[in-house]
Amino acid sequence: MAARGRFVVIEGLDGAGTTTQAAELGKRLSGRGIVVLATAEPSRGPVGALIRAVLDRRLSGGGGRPFDRGALALLFAADRLDHVASEIVPALADGRWVVSDRYTPSSLAYQTLDLPLDFVAAINARAPRPDVTFLLDVPPAIALRRRRHERPEADLFETLDLQRRVAANYRKLLRARRLGGPVVVVDGTAGVSDVADRIEREVVRRFAPRSREA
Ligand code: TYD
Repeated sequence: MAARGRFVVIEGLDGAGTTTQAAELGKRLSGRGIVVLATAEPSRGPVGALIRAVLDRRLSGGGGRPFDRGALALLFAADRLDHVASEIVPALADGRWVVSDRYTPSSLAYQTLDLPLDFVAAINARAPRPDVTFLLDVPPAIALRRRRHERPEADLFETLDLQRRVAANYRKLLRARRLGGPVVVVDGTAGVSDVADRIEREVVRRFAPRSREA
């Protein structure tokens, strides 16, 4: 039977570079002969599609009816459990490594803008802990500038005030050790390849990955 794979999560503000760094790490691990499931939340599953529609403001206001934040938190948690059961657990059991662009810490940092931490933690309690989470540290103003550059259309959470509050939530959760499993904070303001080098070095240091064939 294949050894269980490793589960790595990349977290941070919108514009912190989570999507870029998750893809970079996936590529670098593949280059080491590791079979990787590169994935993201909201997931590509049915609940993920519903969440994206809400975040795009198609359902969440902007002239339409507001979407309840408790219901949105439940959707994120439901998407996560479905993602875990349908993609993450089977990949890990098969010996593949999983790199996820966002996971439970996003719910803990974003959904607590409107809801108590105990509620958000409770609905996510069944989601398994990653082997390591990288938190990309980028000042909210820089992250927002990057994001606007990539995509002028803003999602539900993309204002400077909200991003500052999300950043404060990540810091608070980190201090209280509530992010789940080991967390490594990485300065996300360096260039893409410098940040990717740092993450790769840390993964190698922790897990000494060898190719499956080795
Ligand atoms: P994001 O990674 O920005 O997706 P994309 O780049 O494809 O638009 O994620 C979408 C937003 O969802 C982002 O603002 C963070 C938010 N989010 C939560 O509020 N809670 C969660 O549990 C997750 C996974 C994401």
